[in-house]
Amino acid sequence: MQTQLKTILAEAKAQLEKIQTMAETEELRIRLLGKKGKLTEILRSMGSLSPEERKSFGQEANAARTEIESLLEEKFAAMKEAQKKLKFKAERIDVTEPGVPVKLGVQHPLTLTIDEISKVFMSMGFSVVEGPEVETVFNNFDALNAGPNHPARDLTDTFYITDDILLRTQTSPVQVRTLMKQEPPIMVISPGRCFRCDTPDATHSPMFHQVEGLVVDEGITMADLKGTLDAFAKDMFGSDARTKFRPHHFPFTEPSAEMDVTCFKCGGKGCRVCKGSGWIEILGCGMVHPNVLKVGGLDTEKYTGFAFGMGVERIAMLKYGVEDIRLFYENDMRFIEQFK
Ligand code: DAH
Repeated sequence: MQTQLKTILAEAKAQLEKIQTMAETEELRIRLLGKKGKLTEILRSMGSLSPEERKSFGQEANAARTEIESLLEEKFAAMKEAQKKLKFKAERIDVTEPGVPVKLGVQHPLTLTIDEISKVFMSMGFSVVEGPEVETVFNNFDALNAGPNHPARDLTDTFYITDDILLRTQTSPVQVRTLMKQEPPIMVISPGRCFRCDTPDATHSPMFHQVEGLVVDEGITMADLKGTLDAFAKDMFGSDARTKFRPHHFPFTEPSAEMDVTCFKCGGKGCRVCKGSGWIEILGCGMVHPNVLKVGGLDTEKYTGFAFGMGVERIAMLKYGVEDIRLFYENDMRFIEQFK
């Protein structure tokens, strides 16, 4: 039995030398110290020895057991340490390594154009307000003095949600909302998205953007309208830009006009962009119709105002020389990144 014990101990040591993994160490532990382990079996068979033999062999066997246990423990600890080292090595972060650059996006040309228009008006003291894209028929048409038979009301021109709710066809309903909740003096612009049942082509899109403007106070005249919009044109398109106003019709203004700016491509000489005329139409405007002021409960003898509305896509297309409106909505980065 003594020799058996020695062999077991020697074998255990030899095996421990070779062992590479935690699992192998555990296997060895079970083989030696487990319920059916070699050492366990020897200890169990001690019953057949005489009391003296049992005593001395017992001491040796226990010493062997303690030795094996501590050898196993050491092995386990060494394996754990090795594993930790491997893990640290694998997870090591080189803090001196250059980072992965974050690709910065760019602003969309329509956002850039809206920002630019807004800045010009804000510098004159206008504030920016917003209105919802889903509007009431009342705010989009009735309150804006568009009669019951106005052609824009047609189902073929407007996206109706119900009989009373629609996708706004213009930003002008924000005039109504502003008049209903704000007292004069009013000086606001309102950029936003509009919708019309148009088939997309190079100059039409069922979704597009406008910037609306409204000024209401005592003593506002057509001179204020012309002065403000001429200053806007010079700020937006350069101090050489000149403007002219042509009579037009809008239900919510009286009188109404369209404003042209000297072509920023040719300076007024006539070119492809302005179709030879030297002028480019950029917005609709006029003196706010008394019927619209009345929706806000204003005394139309005391208060007057002017309003204007411009198409953002149209201005962006002219400014950047974009020939197809659909390019704005395709989200092709090769296009969008050109306007940084
Ligand atoms: N809402 C008009 C349109 O979509 C544009 C417009 C014209 C707005 C004259 C105005 C205005 O505020 O006074 O065609």
